[in-house]
Amino acid sequence: MRAKITVLPENKQAEIDAGEYILNASDIAGVILNSGCLKCSCGTCAVEIVSGGENLEPLTNKEKAVLEKKGKNPQQYRLSCCVKILKGEIVIKSN
Ligand code: FES
Repeated sequence: MRAKITVLPENKQAEIDAGEYILNASDIAGVILNSGCLKCSCGTCAVEIVSGGENLEPLTNKEKAVLEKKGKNPQQYRLSCCVKILKGEIVIKSN
């Protein structure tokens, strides 16, 4: 199954395979997001989800804790290195 990402403000888009991490999908669209550990623990890769949050993997307690430590609202931000796009379209703001 295919999915789609749009990265703002660059307004770059890509069609990707469902199951791709947000970080990789953004890379495919041509926007390299800031990242660090790539292990869901530093919070550097947090991105704002503009729309399509329902198409992402559900929030875990671990991710929620990392986001909150970074001062990011888990209802609005997700860790791009450890959250997969499951279906449909998402729009994010690059970090
Ligand atoms: S790069 Fe560290 S949490 Fe994603």
